Amino acid sequence: MTINTQITRCANHINYKKRIREAEEIYDYLNIDSNKKLTILEIGMGIGHLSHYLMTKGHTVIATDVNHSFGWVKNKDLKIIYNIAYKLLDPKPEKKLFEYRMLSHDSKMEFKRLENYLPANKKYDLILFTANSMHIDKDIIPKEQDYKFLVQELFKLSSKDARFIMGFYPAFDDYEGYGCKFLYENRIKDRFNERLFGEIAVEFNRATYKGKWNYN
Ligand SMILES: C[S@@+](CC[C@H](N)C(=O)[O-])C[C@H]1O[C@@H](n2cnc3c(N)ncnc32)[C@H](O)[C@@H]1O
Repeated sequence: MTINTQITRCANHINYKKRIREAEEIYDYLNIDSNKKLTILEIGMGIGHLSHYLMTKGHTVIATDVNHSFGWVKNKDLKIIYNIAYKLLDPKPEKKLFEYRMLSHDSKMEFKRLENYLPANKKYDLILFTANSMHIDKDIIPKEQDYKFLVQELFKLSSKDARFIMGFYPAFDDYEGYGCKFLYENRIKDRFNERLFGEIAVEFNRATYKGKWNYN
């Protein structure tokens, strides 16, 4: 297959332009003061189009995913296509590793990575997940305390008034199943805005919510 055919296939498959448009819509929703340059963490970057877009706006972006080769994609050809899509990004976010392993021993090590990725004297000001599927990728079913642990560990690495937007795809059905009551209570109200981030998406601010869970 020629490179052009591959690129066409890639464009058809991932609808590259649509993704960049989505990133624009997300940016409009974020409504970041044009004078502010943030340190942003993206968890589950996928191809990296959102991180790319945030970089073009002058922010420092730490873009992470579970591995370097589009880990959640099983199909080999698709991996190649995603790789081409990633290569097309300019500026290209450097893919860094982070996998949330729930409330378990090795999660601590994963958060240590996130700490090491921070530029000197910086904390994360904005933490973003879009269409994250951490509740279905593995056989583990996250419990309320897994989500608490995740948020509390991220609080430690974030600035005082850091903003969190966590979008999941697919949605978790209800918090008693494999979701989380706290997250449900903080769902983005407007359905159009919620869908920018996932099937279900929540938003909160560290300054407002720190301490509510009292996780130890
Ligand atoms: C459906 S893809 C979405 C990718 C990208 N955010 C987008 O919107 O196109 C789900 C992403 O969640 C990531 N993910 C799944 N489980 C995760 C976990 N436990 N920790 C971190 N990321 C995870 C996957 O690797 C993948 O990049």
